[in-house]
Amino acid sequence: MYLKNKIFSIFVLTLSLTDIAAQSSIKILEQGRKTSIRGLSVVSNEIIWVSGSNGSVGKSVDGGNSWQWITVTGYEKSDFRDIEAFDENTALMMGITQPAVILKTTDGGTSWRKVFEDTAKAAFFDAMSFYNPKEGFVIGDPVSGTNFYGLRTNNYGESWEEIKQFYQLDTLQNGEAFFASSGSNIKHIDKDKIVAVTGGTYSRLIASFIKPTQIPIIQGLAPTGANSIDIYKNKAAIVGGDFERDTLRMANCVLIHFSRKKLRIQSPQTSPHGYRSCVIYLDENNLITCGTSGVDISSNGGMNWQLISNESFNVVQKAKRGNAVFFAGTNGKIGRL
Ligand SMILES: *[C@@H]1O[C@H](CO)[C@@H](O)[C@H](O)[C@H]1NC(C)=O
Ligand SMILES: *[C@@H]1O[C@H](CO)[C@@H](O)[C@H](O)[C@H]1NC(C)=O
Repeated sequence: MYLKNKIFSIFVLTLSLTDIAAQSSIKILEQGRKTSIRGLSVVSNEIIWVSGSNGSVGKSVDGGNSWQWITVTGYEKSDFRDIEAFDENTALMMGITQPAVILKTTDGGTSWRKVFEDTAKAAFFDAMSFYNPKEGFVIGDPVSGTNFYGLRTNNYGESWEEIKQFYQLDTLQNGEAFFASSGSNIKHIDKDKIVAVTGGTYSRLIASFIKPTQIPIIQGLAPTGANSIDIYKNKAAIVGGDFERDTLRMANCVLIHFSRKKLRIQSPQTSPHGYRSCVIYLDENNLITCGTSGVDISSNGGMNWQLISNESFNVVQKAKRGNAVFFAGTNGKIGRL
């Protein structure tokens, strides 16, 4: 019995990487709508919200089988690059620029109310992260010079206060900014612990508990840098690359291990297959990343990545309550793992 089990477990271990890849496939649920989706919030296995360009918002309450779509009145040209939903009725969403605006719905997406707007022409919002429905953060690009720009709410998004300093960081480098590619380059670890990653001329990890740290992701040009970070306990996975050369398989992923005061930074042994705009942990070992050139999975904490689909997606998210995984991308494409 003992021996049999041991042999069995070795067998399972050696097979696991290829096995999971072979078993993982993505079912396309929706396609063809005139919107590029970058906002995705999976409340549960049943309730999923998406947001995109051309003022579009979509919602499913049956696990993605059917979708209700609306174009937000007065915001028909807005590009809603991030959305955070809390249940079937309540969500906050962010229009990136002109207007740089935050909208809220409490009636399931039928009507949207403006809770914040920055009327400066240069205002540009990149992503939102919420610790809980009450406390959230929006990160933006510098409006004046290279000054850091953020917004914080403490009352369910009803009002927002401008933040001029992100822990030890009050200015970015020239040409350093945040990407608005998947709403996932800023994450709450804890109530007051937030991490974010930058790109452009520099690609850095910025956080409350460490000095801003340059990371080994391709950088130096506007389309290069880190696009997404996800956290699992004391580990982080970061992805990015060069979105104009989206099959370039170089310096596009970094793994971080946070210990007391130090950071251990590692690059994978086999990288994801090109530029990736979003990464998530399913658990400590299993991760998924997606981008315009396809979808990769890892079953060993991000050290090795295997391509499971050539489908282009901007964003991937796992259910906050549940285990369903959804993807979204251009032409209104939505997929389910
Ligand atoms: C937005 O709508 C216009 C008009 O229907 C269309 O031409 C354009 O391709 C749409 N944009 C996206 C990103 O789908
Ligand atoms: C992706 O496309 C390449 C080239 O066409 C093909 O060889 C490969 O099998 C495809 N991979 C998947 C996972 O579909």
